[in-house]
Amino acid sequence: MSLDKLLKNVQTIAIICNQWGDTGKGKFSDYIAHQWADVAARGTGGNNAGHTVVVNGKEKIFHLIPTGIINDSLGKTTILGNGMVIDLAVLSSELDDLDKEKVSYNNLMISKDANVIIPYHVNVDKAKNQSQKHGGIGSTGRGIGPSYTDKIARKGIMISDLFDRDILVKKINKARELYPEQEIDTEKIIEYLRPYAERIKPFVRDTVTAIHKFMREGKKILLEGAQGLLLSIEHGTYPYVTGSDCSLNGTASGVGLSAKAIDLPLGVVKFPVMTRVGAGPFPTELGGWFSESYCAEEGHMKPDELREYKIPHELDNGEIKYNWRDPKIVEMMNSKDPFTQGIGIRLSAGEYGATTGRPRRIGWTDAVAAKYAVGINGPLILLTKADCLAESEEFKLCYGYTAGSESFTNFSRNEKFLRSVSPEYKSYQGYGNISDVRNYEGLPRSLKKAVQDFEKFTFGSVVAVSVGPDREETIVR
Ligand code: IMP
Repeated sequence: MSLDKLLKNVQTIAIICNQWGDTGKGKFSDYIAHQWADVAARGTGGNNAGHTVVVNGKEKIFHLIPTGIINDSLGKTTILGNGMVIDLAVLSSELDDLDKEKVSYNNLMISKDANVIIPYHVNVDKAKNQSQKHGGIGSTGRGIGPSYTDKIARKGIMISDLFDRDILVKKINKARELYPEQEIDTEKIIEYLRPYAERIKPFVRDTVTAIHKFMREGKKILLEGAQGLLLSIEHGTYPYVTGSDCSLNGTASGVGLSAKAIDLPLGVVKFPVMTRVGAGPFPTELGGWFSESYCAEEGHMKPDELREYKIPHELDNGEIKYNWRDPKIVEMMNSKDPFTQGIGIRLSAGEYGATTGRPRRIGWTDAVAAKYAVGINGPLILLTKADCLAESEEFKLCYGYTAGSESFTNFSRNEKFLRSVSPEYKSYQGYGNISDVRNYEGLPRSLKKAVQDFEKFTFGSVVAVSVGPDREETIVR
């Protein structure tokens, strides 16, 4: 990957998402963690994330441990940072998976200051949930929000508390007051936590001090972002957001660094189609409200959609296989009905959640939102998934919003505003298959024109375009 050009003369890199997550950060994180970094660290979120990596030729989805762990045998360090919320059962099962695959984790570090997700957090999340259909935010149901709520309320259980019975008893008793509807038996929870605590004990560290030392030693550090800027508690489409600040700032502080310490922050943007999982405003969504509620209902997962639209498919080793260029899918992608077009693009691009399997809501890339993200995360942009639109005759980008007679070119986090505006689109001609293109000049004219317009509008600078899932399928400018 000629991404190497970018990596010269820098010590710290962050791969963060400038949209609502699921932008394909993983491909870049995997490469950089393997080829370049000495340390791979995560600073935000928990097992709400889903990150597919190939281990021993098999695809594995990690939710918690940074994917850099697969380079442990090369002496590289992997850190679960202070800003994370950790479900110990999930962590333990990911360690089991690593054991099974004979992937070592000798250099794993778990922050003593990260917060813990306790089963009552998961129960509260599920109970509140927030069923998207019933007006909830459609969380992943993993206890992320409640665990961060306890943290902000200064009542959270930290990893270090697992080794101090007195504090643990005090905090769990407190949780009984916080969650009166939950049956919380302090001793039972302590018993539940004990084996997990023992298991992770050898890896628990003051990771902030460790990362400062790595910085002084000149070690190369990669921050693996989670979720995306528009899901950030601080900058996202509140209240339809996750519990952490997944911006560059939050990602850096989640490992004990300042954003200023990051030499190369790379913001990932899915282009020219973006997605969202869960509820919340999404001005450019194909099919609007209808798509939002359709995606929230059960029975619209990948196999359901394939069956419903009579797309031939088969099950191979638990994986659903189908031709993403099936004539029916292509016909849907080019439908004049936006909702149908969205389903066609979803099927063609395989846009289903890695963590929950939910259908991702589909819309044209919103340059207004991207400009906002560039202002917060910095100007450098990696474009991903451009190859997924090979069969589209036309594509659009949104360069403004209209409400009544007013026009807007700046983003707002306000739900009412975002739901009341209509996107102002510019259309471009479809560009066919680009997966074999390896240099920027070789990209079709309409795509290059779109990138140029997008950069001008957002004040961003596109440094690379991903044209397929493989490492080689990347064009660096
Ligand atoms: P939570 O993070 O489980 O609290 O969910 C809050 C919102 O963030 C929901 O709309 C989720 O669908 C969304 N979300 C959380 N994690 C991810 C992710 O990794 N990708 C995309 N959306 C996410």
